[in-house]
Amino acid sequence: DIPVITIDGPTASGKGTLADEVGKALGFGVLDSGALYRVTGLAARRAGLDLDDGAAVAALVPTLQLSFRDGHVFLGDEDVSARLRAEATGLLASQVAAHAPVREALHQLQLDFRRLPGLVADGRDMGTAIFPDAALKVFLTASAATRAERRYKQLISKGISANIKGLREDLEARDERDKNRSASPLTPAQDAQLLDNSALTIEASVAQVLDWWQK
Ligand code: CDP
Repeated sequence: DIPVITIDGPTASGKGTLADEVGKALGFGVLDSGALYRVTGLAARRAGLDLDDGAAVAALVPTLQLSFRDGHVFLGDEDVSARLRAEATGLLASQVAAHAPVREALHQLQLDFRRLPGLVADGRDMGTAIFPDAALKVFLTASAATRAERRYKQLISKGISANIKGLREDLEARDERDKNRSASPLTPAQDAQLLDNSALTIEASVAQVLDWWQK
């Protein structure tokens, strides 16, 4: 059995950073499932599809020439990594992610990331829908204010201008949509460990997850 650790939670809760660090510490691969929804949203927009048409967006998924190299995502020959991180792409992602057919179209692709010696998977439904048999499930939260501030610093550090109030409104809107959709709504798995990292450093969060893993 290939071990899996799932890290689910709302936007900007620090899932990606935590997953990368835990993956590094254990030598496991990392699945950033949000990137798959982001690239689907981006490709659907570029193809001129109606993002409310779940069947049309789902039909696009098998035609995407996706590849993952050194933490970068390629669509055909184009490195779309930077474009995927944009807030606007996050909104496209949450729109296409609301459709069950789109989620089904991306299901197998996510399972394919499960390789030896193990996987850390981050997203919204890793512990509930994709890897229900995961050995450790973490549900990561942080206050909306903390998350808006983190997202703000992340963007500024990349030279992207941002405003905290706008970011907080965007992330609360996205949380609402992710929690209230009928397809895989954001909710902790029954057997998830809850971790509120509002007041924790990255190191402390990583240490907590590794501690749970060792038990
Ligand atoms: O980093 P952030 O949490 O802002 O975004 P993300 O994890 O890249 O996810 C972007 C959007 O994709 C989310 O708002 C969700 O609507 C959707 N998503 C999902 O539905 N299921 C996943 N496993 C991952 C992302």
